[in-house]
Amino acid sequence: MSAHGTPIPMTSSAAGPLAGVADVPGDKSISHRSLILGALSIGETRISGLLEGQDVLDTARAMRAFGAEVTDLGEGNWSVHGVGVGGFAEPDNVIDCGNSGTGVRLIMGAMATSPVTATFTGDASLNKRPMARVTDPLALFGAQTVGREGGRLPMTIVGAADPVPVRYVVPVPSAQVKSAVLLAGLNAPGQTVVIEKEATRDHTERMLAGFGATITSEVTDEGRVITLTGQPELTGQTIAVPRDPSSAAFPVCAALIVPGSDVLVPNIGLNPTRAGLFETLREMGANLTYENPREEGGEPVADLRARFSPDLRGIEVPPARAASMIDEYPILSVVAAFATGQTVMRGVKELRVKESDRIMAMADGLRANGVDIEDGEDWWIVTGRGHGNVAGGGLVHSHIDHRIAMSFLCLGMATQAPVRVDDCGPIATSFPVFEPLMSALGAQFVRTSAD
Ligand code: S3P
Repeated sequence: MSAHGTPIPMTSSAAGPLAGVADVPGDKSISHRSLILGALSIGETRISGLLEGQDVLDTARAMRAFGAEVTDLGEGNWSVHGVGVGGFAEPDNVIDCGNSGTGVRLIMGAMATSPVTATFTGDASLNKRPMARVTDPLALFGAQTVGREGGRLPMTIVGAADPVPVRYVVPVPSAQVKSAVLLAGLNAPGQTVVIEKEATRDHTERMLAGFGATITSEVTDEGRVITLTGQPELTGQTIAVPRDPSSAAFPVCAALIVPGSDVLVPNIGLNPTRAGLFETLREMGANLTYENPREEGGEPVADLRARFSPDLRGIEVPPARAASMIDEYPILSVVAAFATGQTVMRGVKELRVKESDRIMAMADGLRANGVDIEDGEDWWIVTGRGHGNVAGGGLVHSHIDHRIAMSFLCLGMATQAPVRVDDCGPIATSFPVFEPLMSALGAQFVRTSAD
């Protein structure tokens, strides 16, 4: 089933050379954080380039429910009048975060140290995902939680009336957990310290500093130690959301595998905590260049130019790089199918608890399309077949997971026979213009009837 309605089955057939400019939407992680931090600030936050995918729209609705004034000004421009740190009102109704783990986990953190009670739910995918990784540290602040078995949504959180600051070592590499703790720390007196053994995306830290919080980050033997001073007055900001490297990944990878392609993907954020895929592709022999590199809003940005890459080679992806490309393993495994040799991906257990079990979803889908893949609890290996030799012809289940759906539509652009995906509805959660954007480059997508 689609996350938000009836299933949208689609078929992707071999495309001619892809050509043109792919203007991908705003960054999903930064879009969520802009709305949440805007809601926790005093005064107005003006946002341009907001991703208007369903995940982010659900977060906008949630911020209204907690008392912020959130206005859609059109064409990706939004205004948020915040309530200030500790100023959240109690929502009248259940907060539905749809498909979004980032939305629900960050919002839980943001409300957990205010004296309000809120109940959270989501779609069939989100309600299967683990929330204890967030509610465990929130309990240390004094928040109370009642959820379903295994720490699943729906779940009610009673925010701490008298929060205490915490020192927390994040047990899994997760920017969502780190961010939830930092957002909770905002309304606790004194210093909240979060330690992460592996560096994950640092948008929350950068943006908290931008909104006026005192926050430091230092690399020690324990890992990255982030210290936030609680109860700051955050002030509304003007934010230009950079474009999403995780969305750019799809037109970039499609261009690498479709013969004759040459695609430009402008203005992509290349924050090192997000850019691991592009480095990996270059090591595999991808014809991928960074044009016009520059700094925008304190973030490295470049235009990506991706061209058909006839000599892709499988590599062992360094496990230390996993956090910086965690959302990109599905599309990387598609590229790996067109390489020669094996692409080995280890240290990726977190893929099992994304919008779907992505190792299982990709393994099943690739096998159904004639690609050899071995997998274990925290690893998978794709044996490449080389360009022109990937059979396709299979039916793939997207499991309410946008990135699985988009990855297999890209696979079908270069396989011998078309690839069918049972439901592409979830793509709207992160990349609502995926279908027209890819079609304009030359993709052959057809909406089909369900099998
Ligand atoms: C995100 C963190 C990552 C990532 C997700 C977005 C964020 O999740 O997979 O798409 O914006 O903080 P985890 O924190 O579960 O690794």
